[in-house]
Amino acid sequence: MALRNVIKIGEDSLRKKSKPVKDFDESLWELLDDMKATMYENDGMGLAAPQVGVLRRVIIVDVNNAFIELVNPEITSQKGEDIEEEGCLSVGNFRGRVKRPYKITVSAFDRFGYPFTLTGEKWLARCICHEVDHLDGVLFVDKCLDKDKYLKQGGKL
Ligand code: NI
Repeated sequence: MALRNVIKIGEDSLRKKSKPVKDFDESLWELLDDMKATMYENDGMGLAAPQVGVLRRVIIVDVNNAFIELVNPEITSQKGEDIEEEGCLSVGNFRGRVKRPYKITVSAFDRFGYPFTLTGEKWLARCICHEVDHLDGVLFVDKCLDKDKYLKQGGKL
C-alpha cells in the first residue's frame, strides 16, 4: 500500500468524467488499497479515484466504522431530503451545507467484479452521493447552499 497525492480543486482532472472499470485485476486492487490508506491518512469519510488522479469509476466510503468499496456505482433510487455540512479532501478547510437525498439505493461491483446492491440513509447516503458526484466531475461546492460564502472567501471552482 502506498499513499497517493490528493488532487486539489482548480486542477482540470477533478472536473473530468471518469470511465467505468472493465478489468477487476491487480491494478484495481492496488488502487483501492492505496485509496484506503490515503483516505485514512487524511481523516476522510470517503474518496473517489479521480481525487488521486485516476479517472475510473471507483469510490470508497467509511461511515459508522463500516468501510465499503464500490466499483462502477450507480444510484438507482433516492428518497427524501437532508441538509448537512460537508467538506472534501480536495477542497481544503471549507465546509458548507448541501441538500442530498435522505435515502438511496446504489448498485455496484466489489473488487472482484461481483455485483451488489446497498441501501443507505443519512450520512451513508450523503457520502456515497458526494463520491459518485466526483466521478462526474462535480464537487460539493458546486451545489453547496453556502456557495456565495465560499466564493467570497476566495474559494475556487
Ligand atoms: Ni470530496
